[in-house]
Amino acid sequence: MRASIGVIWTVSVLMLAAVSEAFFPFPFIPFLPGFNNGIRDNGAVKAAAQQQPAAAAGRGGGRRRGGGVEAQTNWPGKWEIFLQNSGVSAMHAILMPVINQVQFYDATIWRISKIKLPPGIPCHVVDPKTNRIDCWAHSVLVDVNTGALKPLSLSTDTWCSSGGLTINGTLVSTGGYGGGANTARYLAACKNCGWVEYPQALAAKRWYSTQATLPDGNFIVVGGRDALNYEYIPREGQNNKKLYDSMLLKQTDDPEENNLYPFVWLNTDGNLFVFANNRSILLSPKTNKVVKEFPALAGGARNYPGSGSSALLPIQLYVQNPKVIPAEVLVCGGAKHDAYARAGKKIFEPALQDCARLRLNSAKPRWKSEMMPTPRIMSDTVLLPNGDVLLVNGAKRGCSGWGYAKDPAFAPILYKPRARQGKRFKELATSNIPRMYHSTAIALPDGKVLVGGSNTNDGYRYNVEFPTELRVEKFSPPYLDPALAKMRPKIINTATPKQIRFGQKFNVRVDLQQKDVTKENLKVTMLAPAFTTHSISMNMRLLMLGVADVKPAGGSFEIQTVAPPNGNIAPPGYYLIFAVYKGVPSNGEWIQIV
Ligand SMILES: *[C@@H]1O[C@H](CO)[C@@H](O)[C@H](O)[C@H]1NC(C)=O
Ligand SMILES: *[C@@H]1O[C@H](CO)[C@@H](O)[C@H](O)[C@H]1NC(C)=O
Repeated sequence: MRASIGVIWTVSVLMLAAVSEAFFPFPFIPFLPGFNNGIRDNGAVKAAAQQQPAAAAGRGGGRRRGGGVEAQTNWPGKWEIFLQNSGVSAMHAILMPVINQVQFYDATIWRISKIKLPPGIPCHVVDPKTNRIDCWAHSVLVDVNTGALKPLSLSTDTWCSSGGLTINGTLVSTGGYGGGANTARYLAACKNCGWVEYPQALAAKRWYSTQATLPDGNFIVVGGRDALNYEYIPREGQNNKKLYDSMLLKQTDDPEENNLYPFVWLNTDGNLFVFANNRSILLSPKTNKVVKEFPALAGGARNYPGSGSSALLPIQLYVQNPKVIPAEVLVCGGAKHDAYARAGKKIFEPALQDCARLRLNSAKPRWKSEMMPTPRIMSDTVLLPNGDVLLVNGAKRGCSGWGYAKDPAFAPILYKPRARQGKRFKELATSNIPRMYHSTAIALPDGKVLVGGSNTNDGYRYNVEFPTELRVEKFSPPYLDPALAKMRPKIINTATPKQIRFGQKFNVRVDLQQKDVTKENLKVTMLAPAFTTHSISMNMRLLMLGVADVKPAGGSFEIQTVAPPNGNIAPPGYYLIFAVYKGVPSNGEWIQIV
């Protein structure tokens, strides 16, 4: 253990949701009752709580707060080196469905990496006039279990690009640098697939833009340097011509930018939450109108290069869902507005230390801030399968940019969205590898977090304060405490579907040698793989499904659950499905919503 922990604490408060369901079986209540986070701002909820004193009494009762018994652990997590050399520094990362390989790519502009293209694959012609060639790979598939590397050929530059997965699990990567900026590139999730690139697919050059999945599985691409607009990705092989101007991006463009890689989250009403710099809106992808503007978030800049990080918090679903399904956004850390200019003069300002939450569908949405244990810039947020959030990587001073940050943030922070205010943050075991600019973190099927990258240099450099990092680590969150091993359910994948439709009732079969296996203690979650780069986790989404019942079935248990109701809640495509017992998740299995 590298961190000392004073008090016993709890792994998760998933059970709150269970109790809410038990005490409030009213599908019309617009906000999750019993959700004791002190940030209720809606009269309907208060009224509901008053009508239901049983739930109020259930709160504040120590371990049984909210009614469910939680697994207890003081284990601070564990780091392990997974790869000494990932070949390509992990600037962009995504877990490819079903094949369980992670795609890492960085930038072709450097014409160097640590892994060559395999024999037989033609080298990339950099300049046809001089015949200059580049035989290094800039894209690599990494097996998440064995660590085997497979270099792939890529001809357009992916530097600071964006991405997401189609319904069929194909990675669609957009934008990048130079000749890559208008590109859409496709990599199917199969063992022998390669990149297919369309350099004219996008109407605008997209460098530092954000891609988001729409309710029908198509994509929008928002913003980017000198691209204060957005567009929709056309069908494969076609070229888009239509651009939509964005007032939000125009109005939030500081001298230091601070509005690149905007945070874009699909709200549960089908509109897009777009956050740039310190302002945010709801944008309708149907009418292209701004349907709501949220209050500004004071304190500084949250988007590149003032890179804070963001997550759409886990979405709680029920067997019978309310008409309005609550959705809440978290924005953590960032930098002062002029941090970039100051860093250029070698003055590294302390990063922002606050984390703010906003209920998107509230009648009067307001940001509610709390302080993290330390300031953070360039962190990655990772939704964990049990509904907790991990903040990992980054620094405590400066901002994004080459050599523009100091003081690596070695300790990840666990954020428990459902815990009481003041009890939500916890610092975990420290790594000893700085993960500065251009680092990434993504959740894996086994519940660990893959942490890679860090390259704050123009090229691959080793003899500097923060060298180009090729080591990849795995971080085990506290729920992987060996003392909790017996509490991990195991999904019996032969008795659990591989494909589901919206609203479908289905069963998840689990092995679990425990006594009180009830629907209060055993949950089902679905996690959409995030495309992670530059402290932004595009399309990261966790659904906590409604559970009708948990029944013994032979030596195992059958969890009777319900698929998300529609594409606003969960765009079609691949998810990892987990069973979670008292906050301890199983391994994830791939399931596709079609
Ligand atoms: C997904 O794959 C199926 C079967 O191969 C195909 O029919 C369908 O068109 C694909 N869908 C998309 C969105 O690519
Ligand atoms: C938002 O950022 C701008 C700079 O882009 C700044 O002038 C403004 O005061 C900020 N607003 C708040 C509420 O902090």
